[in-house]
Amino acid sequence: MSSKKVTVPALAARKLKNKKIVMLTAYDATFARLADDAGADMLLVGDSLGMVIQGHDNTIPVTLDDVIYHTRCVARGARRPHICADMPFMTYKVSSEEALHAAGRLIQEGRAESVKLEGGAEMAETIARVVSAGIPVVGHVGLTPQSVHSLGGFKMQGKTSASRDRIIQDAKAVADAGAFCLVLESMPAQLAETITEEVTIPTVGIGAGPHCDGQVLVIYDMLGMNEGFKPKFLKLYASMGGDIKRAVATYAEEVRAGAFPAPEHTTTIDQQPQGELYGGGSKDTRH
Ligand code: KIV
Repeated sequence: MSSKKVTVPALAARKLKNKKIVMLTAYDATFARLADDAGADMLLVGDSLGMVIQGHDNTIPVTLDDVIYHTRCVARGARRPHICADMPFMTYKVSSEEALHAAGRLIQEGRAESVKLEGGAEMAETIARVVSAGIPVVGHVGLTPQSVHSLGGFKMQGKTSASRDRIIQDAKAVADAGAFCLVLESMPAQLAETITEEVTIPTVGIGAGPHCDGQVLVIYDMLGMNEGFKPKFLKLYASMGGDIKRAVATYAEEVRAGAFPAPEHTTTIDQQPQGELYGGGSKDTRH
């Protein structure tokens, strides 16, 4: 795989080439580096960090400063993938001007390369304003988690034909306003397929079936770190929750038994190393 930076035009061109976009969330430099090494195209610093990093029940408490902080961490770890930062709750719905300021901070301070915001036709003017300032925008329709209270929970969308029509109109409005990519969350596969056919920008699905132009998952979920969380759309690619608990339990046992550190982990006076203890390969400063 080429190590060339994944750019906005390259992502937009994927649709024509019928080449799927691989997106994952990332919140820190270590996971960003691992996802980069494994070939992810796009890293989303999602406001899902409110749930998987901060331990909240939803994404609403996440602030702009939180996302800026985590985006800076991701930008230090990732070289090839495109980095998109989520616009948190109430940072883009009061006015287009506020949205532009918030998006500008994510790009300038966070070092994101695009921003994502939730909503449909009602967000068209804001999307156009942010795009006109040279900031690429990713849209997000279907289940929009920041509206969890008005939706009555994290529920599948597009259950009725009226709601499916509205989501299609929203997707078109977001694309027409200038978004370069569109996340489709929690909707029937046929609806995501229709949208993917009807908009010219790539769609990236989560819980939206196989017909999207790409897929995104929350990295902690797909690695099995969020034990007990197993919605239908999620495939577990690892069971790291169990692995981490086993490793910590073994460590605890060995510390208590005095078995760690062993002689091979211990330096005596006559064996003191000359070089740096933490330098070299353990750090990878990509920018
Ligand atoms: O915040 C997030 O992680 C997201 C993805 C699930 C699309 O918005």
